[in-house]
Amino acid sequence: MSGKVDTGIPGLDDLVDGGFPEGRVILVIGGPGTGKTILCSQFLYKGMYEKNEPGVFVSFDESKSQFYSEMKQFGWDFERAEREQKFAFIDATRISQVAKLKEAIYKDEAPSLRERDLSIDRLIEGLQAKISGIGAKRVVVDTLAALFYRFPDEVERRTAVVELIQSLADLEVTCVLTTELRHLGLEREALEEEFLVHGVIMLQTLFSGSTTTRAIQVEKMRGAKVNPSLVPYAINKNGVEIFPNLPLFGE
Ligand SMILES: Nc1ncnc2c1ncn2[C@@H]1O[C@H](COP(=O)(O)OP(=O)(O)O)[C@@H](O)[C@H]1O
Ligand SMILES: [Mg+2]
Repeated sequence: MSGKVDTGIPGLDDLVDGGFPEGRVILVIGGPGTGKTILCSQFLYKGMYEKNEPGVFVSFDESKSQFYSEMKQFGWDFERAEREQKFAFIDATRISQVAKLKEAIYKDEAPSLRERDLSIDRLIEGLQAKISGIGAKRVVVDTLAALFYRFPDEVERRTAVVELIQSLADLEVTCVLTTELRHLGLEREALEEEFLVHGVIMLQTLFSGSTTTRAIQVEKMRGAKVNPSLVPYAINKNGVEIFPNLPLFGE
């Protein structure tokens, strides 16, 4: 697999040399409210209805009903897509590091006890089943930041993240992952996740006097000739739109 996948985000294909690299893992980094969930949902929705590429959304953050109602404001009917077998939602909000332990302890207990939590292994198994079930070509995982709270132990959390990213890279689908940056600023530290993925895109809110502007930057895309500039983007009723040829602050 070496083709390009249309991102579905106006302006983004231009920044990433024609689209996301097919079958690879792309990480979208941004603070809360920068539009990570909207951007990756748009990537799935446009894929389903414009490219006939089914998609799966794995959520560490929101329930299915929350997700469906938020996306309806952009005219994206994921509920219908699910009925049409173009889409599957995996609620992974119960994932935790104790899941494996519990599985061992409660092996003979009622299923309700075992199903309360989900391990990364089980999640990947479930994801593989959904991918082959609907023939998915695109997968979104939103957001690794939630694992920070689910796995309070640093080593456990890093193990989970590495395991997850490596498993996603093996799935032969184009995958967009999101995470948050904990230290902002120009001198930010790279996240470990960034070294494990093929591409990194950064979403930010910039301030200049009393003006704020949303800015996007492609920080890395292996094997592609990217536009590395910081360029403005907007969120409106159609979702995320990027303006590669506009200046950041008006003039
Ligand atoms: N219809 C809309 N028009 C303009 N902005 C919107 C609209 N809906 C949501 N937003 C903006 O989108 C942002 C939330 O996007 P979201 O993808 O949930 O962010 P994240 O996942 O990064 O936390 C908020 O800043 C909100 O103001
Ligand atoms: Mg979000």
